[in-house]
Amino acid sequence: MENLDVIVQSALAELSAAADPAALENAKARYLGRSGELTALLKTLGQLPAEARKAAGAEINAAKERVEGALEARRAELAESQMQARLAQEALDVTLPGRGRSRGGIHPVIRSWRRVEEIFRSIGFDVADGPEIETDWHNFTALNQPENHPARSMHDTFYVDVNDANGTPLLLRTHTSPMQVRYARMWVERHRGEAKMPPIKVLAPGRTYRVDSDATHSPMFHQVEGLWIDEDVSFADLKGVYTSFLREFFETDALQVRFRPSFFPFTEPSAEIDMRFESGPLKGRWLEISGSGQVHPNVIRNYGLDPERYIGFAFGSGLERLTMLRYGIDDLRLFFDGDVRFLRQFS
Ligand code: DAH
Repeated sequence: MENLDVIVQSALAELSAAADPAALENAKARYLGRSGELTALLKTLGQLPAEARKAAGAEINAAKERVEGALEARRAELAESQMQARLAQEALDVTLPGRGRSRGGIHPVIRSWRRVEEIFRSIGFDVADGPEIETDWHNFTALNQPENHPARSMHDTFYVDVNDANGTPLLLRTHTSPMQVRYARMWVERHRGEAKMPPIKVLAPGRTYRVDSDATHSPMFHQVEGLWIDEDVSFADLKGVYTSFLREFFETDALQVRFRPSFFPFTEPSAEIDMRFESGPLKGRWLEISGSGQVHPNVIRNYGLDPERYIGFAFGSGLERLTMLRYGIDDLRLFFDGDVRFLRQFS
């Protein structure tokens, strides 16, 4: 059966030439399939004389086994090379530097905000939050700030195109002082009818806004307001509380504090608080740090309290200012540029 040899040779050649599993299965079908060449050959056995049939059958079956063996081997080869290709394609270079995941940090001003809160909480102050869009009454009038006060000018204050119930335009609060009035009125309401109102002791940090922009002013900035009202809170208490706050905030006792007479419509007397480090790069320079004073009787009245009975102090400090002094930063705008190279240094 020389025909058999030809078939086997061409089957082996086609199987080993098959470049992928589909080509291989096609080749298999051509030889071993139902109408494949070897199958056809087997079917011719019946026409052979009986004595030749056995030998021919054995020969064809041996050929078939050879072809099947080659098919299996080629299948394994193709599977292996396919696996290798996949491994190469999906390989991970574990020596590449990782992409990392950068962690967020707390902004230095917010860091100060939290520090100040913590210090005042530790001496019994409540912490309050209030609206940044304020009424003219809370921001100015209730704080004894007269109609013709320059802070009310369009040059200094951002007004909003919406009026309050009295037809007066709302505005972005220019300081946190309106929170004195909001908190005190809430407190008075809450304790109405009680024989003795507990002291008002509150800290109100938050964002404030003015039409102002240079190296030391930003149109948006942060203040922290403090207020302590009771029947016998004195200027000495203000000095004690604020001085110990500064020592805790800057983590040093080596600083001096002075109260310089000043003017604010909502306090009488009023003082500018200055401080001076006894060591470090800022040593020896008086630095202005906060406005303060004994709350004006008219303001006490606007809290809903009798100024003959209630007295106390307030202060308003700039959080950016405190932060700049703490970290030795000399340009306020750095806080708002959003440059991570700067911000990263504080987290
Ligand atoms: N509100 C003032 C300002 O923004 C700061 C200030 C001064 C607040 C005296 C006070 C105070 O509570 O008593 O300039």
